Amino acid sequence: MSFKDKVIYQIYPKSYLDTDGDGIGDLAGILKKLPYLKLLGVDMIWLNPVYPSPQRDNGYDISNYTAINPVFGTMEEFERLIQTAEEHGIGVMLDMVLNHVSIEHEWFQKALAGDKRYQEYFIIQEDPTDWVSKFGGNAWAPFGDTGKYYLHLFDVTQADLNWRNPEVREELFKVVRFWMDKGIKGFRFDVINLIGKDEVLKNNSVNDGKPEYTDRPIAHEYIRMMNEATYGADPEIITVGEMSFTTVENCILYTQPERHELSMTFNFHHLKVDYEEGKKWTNVPFNFSELKRLFHTWGTQMSENNGWNAWFWNNHDQPRALNRFVDVENYRIEGAKMLASAIHLNRGTPYIYMGEEIGMLDPDFESMADYVDVESLNAYQELTQKGYSEKEAFAIVQSKSRDNARTPMQWTHEVNAGFTKGIPWLAVGNHAQEINAATELEEGSIFAYYQKLIRLRKKYPIIAEGSYRAFASEHESVYGFIREHEEQKLVVLNNFFAEETIVHLPDEFLTGEILVDNYRATQLNSEFKLQPYQTIAILI
Ligand code: GLC
Repeated sequence: MSFKDKVIYQIYPKSYLDTDGDGIGDLAGILKKLPYLKLLGVDMIWLNPVYPSPQRDNGYDISNYTAINPVFGTMEEFERLIQTAEEHGIGVMLDMVLNHVSIEHEWFQKALAGDKRYQEYFIIQEDPTDWVSKFGGNAWAPFGDTGKYYLHLFDVTQADLNWRNPEVREELFKVVRFWMDKGIKGFRFDVINLIGKDEVLKNNSVNDGKPEYTDRPIAHEYIRMMNEATYGADPEIITVGEMSFTTVENCILYTQPERHELSMTFNFHHLKVDYEEGKKWTNVPFNFSELKRLFHTWGTQMSENNGWNAWFWNNHDQPRALNRFVDVENYRIEGAKMLASAIHLNRGTPYIYMGEEIGMLDPDFESMADYVDVESLNAYQELTQKGYSEKEAFAIVQSKSRDNARTPMQWTHEVNAGFTKGIPWLAVGNHAQEINAATELEEGSIFAYYQKLIRLRKKYPIIAEGSYRAFASEHESVYGFIREHEEQKLVVLNNFFAEETIVHLPDEFLTGEILVDNYRATQLNSEFKLQPYQTIAILI
């Protein structure tokens, strides 16, 4: 299948490059950076939502699905972006937020004004369930003064759509076709495994009610319908579903080609290994054996059942992986390459989040006043209400906030990291002097390492297509795996720690070809010593 040798780069448009000085990134900024992206070698760029939105959840609260938010530019500029990207060999992937709309969307406004037809677009009932919103608090809010409640799994301004209503489905499919007609080559479907809600919703205190609305069989059915009505017609289109709180069994079903649902799925289990008892707003070191277990389970199961993973370390909802998994004081560069290898040489499609290719870090903000994200502000309040001191609560927000990833892209060592001539909507990170694209391209080696990984995926079918199995799975500090394709084998070893360690290397690999290595002049031998954060891939 055509998408397996592709690499996708995620852009948070608000923070990429501001060309008009309003402090907010724009489409013209992305257009300007296409040569940079081509140099990197990526096949597609995924843009976070660029539609009109009150920005209560940074664009994931959409008030009009088929227009461009003027803050980012015009529809003409967007069309030019698609066209020019195509000329650079880069496709554009859009974010489709089809589980909910902003309460400012005309559908919700009409419903509120009493229009029965539009009330059927939402999930409105007299008796709310006990579900908890993913952004904290009750998942139901009063629907005007009707005495009824509407469901909002996310913010109170993000009303869940009623996919049971065929008219809603058709409206949403029209949206997908609208963007296909503009030349969009990829879709990222936001929390798409939450669209299937039962006719009668039940209380469930387990996991805040998630089992009642997550991965319901009907969600698969709706996705299949969407495939048939929209992107299924164009085999070139790549689709990825963001799966909240999902299982490998479901992700196999979402992605097996013969089921005609999606090309691939994002899951988040591997990014919860530094949560204490599953809770995000805690501060504990990452659990390596759990991380490895998850990679092996997902890798093996997807491989054996012909499913397909989307792999990523970073996105706009996650603090920077370097800060979570690497001793960045001492090994930022080695660690960045090691993390990159662990997913780019894996079975599945690798995603790069803007700034990752230059080894960007969390911003190290010094006060709550620097944070903008609604989830972080709510969390801080909840933590202090629960009895954490302000200092403790701040330390947790500082390490977990989504704003860690949303700070402006660091282009140069100039004012505001070359991102804007105005006042940035979110402060620039504290490391921009040393960590920026200009310096990286001049004297760094992380960007070049990403270029190489992308080239290798295209050159070696074993990387794009090979099967996956665990290697050295009992090892205390190494995440290893073997890819196999036709007569070839590729072993990939990743030391996740700042200490040297020994791995036993089977004889067959000793004369292999080293495809990548983040250290120099490595000699292969059977009691093979890996340096701190060393990554190496050997092909036979
Ligand atoms: C997804 C998005 C996140 C957003 C949420 C609600 O998880 O990635 O940014 O807040 O959905 O749309």
